[in-house]
Amino acid sequence: MSESKAFAVVTGANRGIGLAICQRLATQGYRVATCVRVPSRDLQTLLPEADGHAIVTLDLRDDAAIAEAARAVLKWSKQIDVLVNCAGVASGGLFAMTRMDHMRDIFQVNTFGPLLFTQYIARAMTRAKAGSIINIGSTAGLLADAGTMAYGGSKAALMHATRVLATELGASGIRVNAIAPAVVETDMAAQMDEASRAALDARSALPGMIAPGDVAALVSYLVSPESAQMTGQVLRLDRGMPF
Ligand SMILES: NC(=O)c1ccc[n+]([C@@H]2O[C@H](COP(=O)([O-])OP(=O)(O)OC[C@H]3O[C@@H](n4cnc5c(N)ncnc54)[C@H](OP(=O)(O)O)[C@@H]3O)[C@@H](O)[C@H]2O)c1
Repeated sequence: MSESKAFAVVTGANRGIGLAICQRLATQGYRVATCVRVPSRDLQTLLPEADGHAIVTLDLRDDAAIAEAARAVLKWSKQIDVLVNCAGVASGGLFAMTRMDHMRDIFQVNTFGPLLFTQYIARAMTRAKAGSIINIGSTAGLLADAGTMAYGGSKAALMHATRVLATELGASGIRVNAIAPAVVETDMAAQMDEASRAALDARSALPGMIAPGDVAALVSYLVSPESAQMTGQVLRLDRGMPF
């Protein structure tokens, strides 16, 4: 397989969408550095170090830990072909009731932490003059629904950063794209209240549910040579939401 010597770094790798992305990339022959706060037993079984994968401790709330994680990744492999910023935390609540320290925390995990990590990894990609970065955004950052100031704002910023980075890093052969999913069946979606889910369902053209594997399939496309001319894009995976 042409990608068999390729190295990918995925955050939020423990579960949900991140785990599905890791599994998909591993199936395609990637060696994957799974970045997690605390490794799950599943992860060690599914992506064993014996197969060239690595588990890296990463807490996006802690800038020093992010620097340390980047060092560990680059010690594992100087060549990084793919970075997927998938880790994130959800938050919902009307703006009037939202504390600024809560907003700062959400932005730290969903925006500033991933961008700091990207800065370290992108330097290695720049030296190699190649790489593909994928940020997991959200339709919450594209719509303007009530209660999404903190989460939607943090994802909107990440998706804007995607486009800016694509502009800045294109000359170095690095592509940067984002995926904006609507509700995906994971632990995070399980936290949503029924009324919000029903409202989103009612706005979707397609019936059914988005699975973590659907996001992973799009990542697979975005890292493949088939998307070689695509950068700075935010791909909606939303079952067809006109607004
Ligand atoms: N599910 C959805 O409906 C949906 C829709 C649109 C976008 N997204 C986005 O997709 C991404 C993955 O979400 P998911 O649905 O798979 O959620 P999930 O099942 O809740 O998983 C979230 C992941 O992020 C990690 N994480 C949380 N805080 C972290 C921190 N401070 N440092 C490092 N890692 C941290 C978690 O690690 P632990 O295992 O240690 O907690 C976990 O692996 C997120 O960015 C989310 O915003 C999800």
